[in-house]
Amino acid sequence: MIDPQYRKDDGHQEIISLEGNKIKGIKSISQIDPKHFWSNCAKNLTWFKEWEQVLDWNPPFARWFLGGKLNAAYNCLDRHLISEKKNHAAIIWEGEDGQSVTITYNQLFYRVNKLANALKRLGIKKGDRITIYLPMIPELVISMLACARIGAIHSVIFSGFSSQSIIDRVNDAESRIIITADGGYRRGKIVQLKKIVDEAVKQTSTVEKVIVVKRTHEDIDINEKDIWFEDLVNKESNYCVSEWMESNDPLFILYTSGTTGKPKGVVHGSGGYLTHLFNSAKWVFNFVPTDVFFCTADIGWVTGHSYVVYAPLMHGVTEIIYEGAPDYPDQGQYWNIIEKHGATILYTTPTALRSYMRYGNDIPNSYDLSSLRLLGTVGEPINPEVWMWYFNTIGKNNCPIIDTWWQTETGGIMISMCTGIENIQMKPGSGTFSLPGIELEIVDDHGKKVEANKKGYLTVKEPWPGMLLSLWNNKERYEKTYWEKTRNSYFAGDFAYVDNDGYYWILGRADDILKVAGHRLGTIELESAFISHPSVAEAAVTSKKDEIKGETIIAFLVLRKGAELSSQLDIEVNEHIKNTVGPIASAEKIYFVNKLPKTRSGKIMRRLLRSIVNNETIGDITTLEDEASIEEITHELQEINKHL
Ligand code: WT7
Repeated sequence: MIDPQYRKDDGHQEIISLEGNKIKGIKSISQIDPKHFWSNCAKNLTWFKEWEQVLDWNPPFARWFLGGKLNAAYNCLDRHLISEKKNHAAIIWEGEDGQSVTITYNQLFYRVNKLANALKRLGIKKGDRITIYLPMIPELVISMLACARIGAIHSVIFSGFSSQSIIDRVNDAESRIIITADGGYRRGKIVQLKKIVDEAVKQTSTVEKVIVVKRTHEDIDINEKDIWFEDLVNKESNYCVSEWMESNDPLFILYTSGTTGKPKGVVHGSGGYLTHLFNSAKWVFNFVPTDVFFCTADIGWVTGHSYVVYAPLMHGVTEIIYEGAPDYPDQGQYWNIIEKHGATILYTTPTALRSYMRYGNDIPNSYDLSSLRLLGTVGEPINPEVWMWYFNTIGKNNCPIIDTWWQTETGGIMISMCTGIENIQMKPGSGTFSLPGIELEIVDDHGKKVEANKKGYLTVKEPWPGMLLSLWNNKERYEKTYWEKTRNSYFAGDFAYVDNDGYYWILGRADDILKVAGHRLGTIELESAFISHPSVAEAAVTSKKDEIKGETIIAFLVLRKGAELSSQLDIEVNEHIKNTVGPIASAEKIYFVNKLPKTRSGKIMRRLLRSIVNNETIGDITTLEDEASIEEITHELQEINKHL
């Protein structure tokens, strides 16, 4: 354990009014009267109409701030126009090619309003769904906020996904519009996004228009449904009235991987979600007006939704959005951006840090990183060595590190040190404690609390404002996934333990979800993609520990009768995966086997495969249908390993 003292801002202010309350500490207040506590937190937002009821808890459905009316875009933009923030930079956008564009709050406001008007002109109404498939360019933020302004529900798809992922998500949400770009840049190369969308649109029936942003200016096919973004917004006026949204009206759907083949459409509203975001950002990041916040997450994932779009803009800070990859144009790109724009907070992933650490200290040491005051990580466990490197080499022993645990479903940060409210000892690798108002418990298979230092399932005991409203069109799956296993408490799907000092330690997923470079992928989703290749009959996907990415994908495939095992087949199958799911789903290794290890009831024993590929001891195999199959695989692996 180390005890790095961190700088505390002199301008630090308490955001929860303690009004005459004698009890010290925000946490105890939240426990004594959670509703009163959260309603004070909600007052940090701008409401058109105040709520009638703080919480309606009808397990497992929580509805926060019932009857309250507000608008997310209004909270991110309009309320800054009457302050000195009006002409401050909202976004500093850094292109992959080194160009920087600064957009002030006022400019962002205008651009959002124009698009909102255009969407209305296309007949989009409150509650309609719009799919957004864009690279990390300002139009992505503008599109989300334009949807929010008119009450349309945005469904953003990470631009690294391929057409099949778009088809599934557009069809499930029944989107009327797709907003995309001609293409995007990735390490200097062009990704033809419009082409991928064209493929997808052929297999959807609800899409009426495809709005296309010009980014690469390449020649692309223009179809009947296509409209150029520029042409659409140019003729629109600068003001569009904000829709009064009920606190629990959906703000967005964000699809995420689960334990079945079909991705889950996680639905978040505005009142609760934004309350959680505003306050968590205040507690964790302790935002001050001079902050330049650099969150490196792609907006296609929840970190981008919550802490690139909504939280920093509600706070009126300046944020950096970077278009490209951490190692492009060179291995110092994040440090270059921090120096160039004077970033004060870096919020990134352990995967990115592991890569940078491997590139050596000379690179970060050649940049001026003295503007930094706080460092954060998110998305996967951080190894203590990497944590120490981050602290010493990037933070120069001067910046606290926040290791934030949360999920697409939780909306905002749940576990983290709160630099805005407490001064505690950090422990590298632990996220420390839960945020105020967040009540966690580690339980066993029977839902019983386990003692300190014992591994169990991480659960949330009480509803919290950022909690998902439900899964899109699938209440049953919502109840089953999150509320069946541990009863009466939210099942997060992670293993964790609490140490003797009460610190939380996350031990990874307890289900069939992989975290590859921090990206969430479902094993069964990947297996279906493998099986859709004409040569593949059966597939089992597992993961192998990886020094950089945390884990990588390993696939075991059984060929169809008559299919030929050529030396190129693994490359061909991998190409197929990249085209159907996306480049992030590319397998590290593909093994062709005769049989998969299954239980007597026919379930693939992925855990066993995981043990084999990670050289761990194999547990009980007596439930196997045919023990020979596992020996076969072990044997095959040994054979293969000989050739490596
Ligand atoms: C899963 C959620 C958190 C927003 C981005 C990812 C893992 C997340 C941590 C952390 C260890 C972490 C968990 C979680 N995870 N943060 N600080 N330490 N593991 O959101 O894609 O919904 O994934 O990411 O396994 O359940 P997501």
